Amino acid sequence: MEGGALWTLCSPALLVDADKVKRNAQRMKDRCLELGVQLRPHMKTHKTLEGADIMTGGSRRCIVVSTLAEACFYGDRGFDDILYAYSLPFDKVERCAALSERLDLFQVLVDHPEALERLTKRRLRDGRRWHVWLKLDCSNGRAGVLPSDPGAVKLAQAIAEAEGVELTGVYAHCGNTYNCKGVEQIQAVAQETTESTLQFMEKLKAVGITCKSSIGSTPSCSHPVKDMSRLSEVHPGNYVFYDVQQSLIGSCSLEDVAVRVLTRVIGHCPHRNQLLVDCGWCGLSLDGAGKLRTGYAVIEGHPDLKLVSMTQEHGRVEPVSGALDFSSYPLGTPLMLIPYHACATAMMHPVYHVHSAGRLLGQWTPTRGW
Ligand SMILES: Cc1ncc(COP(=O)(O)O)c(C=O)c1O
Repeated sequence: MEGGALWTLCSPALLVDADKVKRNAQRMKDRCLELGVQLRPHMKTHKTLEGADIMTGGSRRCIVVSTLAEACFYGDRGFDDILYAYSLPFDKVERCAALSERLDLFQVLVDHPEALERLTKRRLRDGRRWHVWLKLDCSNGRAGVLPSDPGAVKLAQAIAEAEGVELTGVYAHCGNTYNCKGVEQIQAVAQETTESTLQFMEKLKAVGITCKSSIGSTPSCSHPVKDMSRLSEVHPGNYVFYDVQQSLIGSCSLEDVAVRVLTRVIGHCPHRNQLLVDCGWCGLSLDGAGKLRTGYAVIEGHPDLKLVSMTQEHGRVEPVSGALDFSSYPLGTPLMLIPYHACATAMMHPVYHVHSAGRLLGQWTPTRGW
């Protein structure tokens, strides 16, 4: 396959443009360098060795993961300084302990006193300490303690004072930037999250605690505000691929999106004015339903086509308006889908086909599971 044209692949296939990935990664590195903040890239979008090497510039240090499977995958391949940024799941404490005892710096996330209790009950061997980040919910509305909650400072103090535990940092994910449209709105949320986090750091300082601080999402880190330079780290991830959603939010242009799903026309349905394609939700995911004029994806080079619905292995494509000219789409015609949400789409594929300048370079194999 190496050196072959993209069209030689069996469909559906996930295609990754290596040049765009490298460019997206470099731009984020440059932005963080300019801002004077440490970049801790999130691996959740691709979950591959190759993507991680590009995002860390080959250092194999300072990453964040969403699953313990990712943590083990990277830990087994020479990565270290890994932050498992997910509210500590009690069923996985033992596996977290094993990683903490094996790596120089494996870090977990806590947002409840009971989680801290679980850690103190499982003392690490050889005098090692648990490295713990406190998760804040700064208007994101998912995991974390509210920075305004007096219990948040108490929990930070309890972590800092617990035997065999160290408070490494405070972590806030500004996923609420996903409700934004345009740079101004993105930067307003980035500013709000930064201020809430920095104010919380002041509260910690007042009780004698200093530790790292980290916020981030792809929208906020694609358009950072100056005050983010006062944080220790940022932790975006999706930027390595970007997607249609990010282009609509205003994080990037459609031109920056590094991934496509190759699909082919497999049926003509003139009675419904529709084409059938060989990509259903198993090849694309159902993320983005109802969000686009063109349905579940943007069909590259065909702005007037719409992916209206999908079943497991089939997609239905029709014109945005008017009658379909079936002669323009003979059976076998390849089409490129630009995904709405690259993280969800990538998850559907056991391998990614990497290319440069229209030629296949090889495959990346992601890790899966939890
Ligand atoms: C906890 C956490 N941190 C960081 C990120 C990275 O954000 P993004 O995907 O916007 O780059 C995510 C993404 O979902 C997340 O859940």
